[in-house]
Amino acid sequence: MKLTKVWVRYSGSGKPAIKDVTLTLPKRCVALVTGPNGAGKTTLVETCLGLLKPYRGMVELLGVNTRSKSIASVRKLCSYVPQDFMKPPHVTYSVKQVIAMGLTSAKAVFEPITESEEARIAEVAELLGVEDLLDKPIGKLSGGQQQRVFVARALVRNPQALFLDEPFSSVDADSRYRIAEVLREYVDKAGAFAMVVSHDTRPVEPISDVIVELDNGVVKGVREK
Ligand SMILES: Nc1ncnc2c1ncn2[C@@H]1O[C@H](COP(=O)(O)OP(=O)(O)OP(=O)(O)O)[C@@H](O)[C@H]1O
Ligand SMILES: [Mg+2]
Repeated sequence: MKLTKVWVRYSGSGKPAIKDVTLTLPKRCVALVTGPNGAGKTTLVETCLGLLKPYRGMVELLGVNTRSKSIASVRKLCSYVPQDFMKPPHVTYSVKQVIAMGLTSAKAVFEPITESEEARIAEVAELLGVEDLLDKPIGKLSGGQQQRVFVARALVRNPQALFLDEPFSSVDADSRYRIAEVLREYVDKAGAFAMVVSHDTRPVEPISDVIVELDNGVVKGVREK
């Protein structure tokens, strides 16, 4: 993940949301992004994914410039768990269906799930502690349970890069450590990259290789461990 002198602003807003951000993060690492509300953390994640384009500077995701046409196919190798992505009660997709959605970008329309994919769904469900909820409608789960399901969906596709924006905000304190460990194990096993945004730095700090501190759109500090 490489950002070189990156400036991003939202349309209609005169003020840049991130300013002159330069970061080089190893291909295989866990990067923790922290900082106060409005610091630019979500903007940074969406800029890394190429969902937001800088008006100045350059971003490379898995070695590809996010301005290039092939960035959409590069994004298929990535997973993104957005901030506050809760589903309302009327959403009736089962937990299993929601996790299986993580596989769809690699499949043809209506292509059935294979046995090995079934096994992978069961594996990630167990890692995230939602194996007993697989047949429940997603909208009827608690906030913390839903977040676990979204992390499971992010992992099921075996991504090369993972972007998680406050994935633990509704998860109880003990489980945060366990889920952080699950992420670390995945990154090590798959040789993947993970960027984790978290206000509560405690569970993520022990599993991080680098900590990026943002404030008011600028990188205040980069600490390597
Ligand atoms: N859609 C948008 N349109 C205009 N301005 C935005 C938009 N989203 C964010 N901003 C502005 O960009 C800046 C950075 O916002 P961002 O969402 O990246 O912060 P954050 O660090 O993720 O905050 P939080 O901890 O609250 O999630 C803020 O000043 C915010 O007001
Ligand atoms: Mg945010």
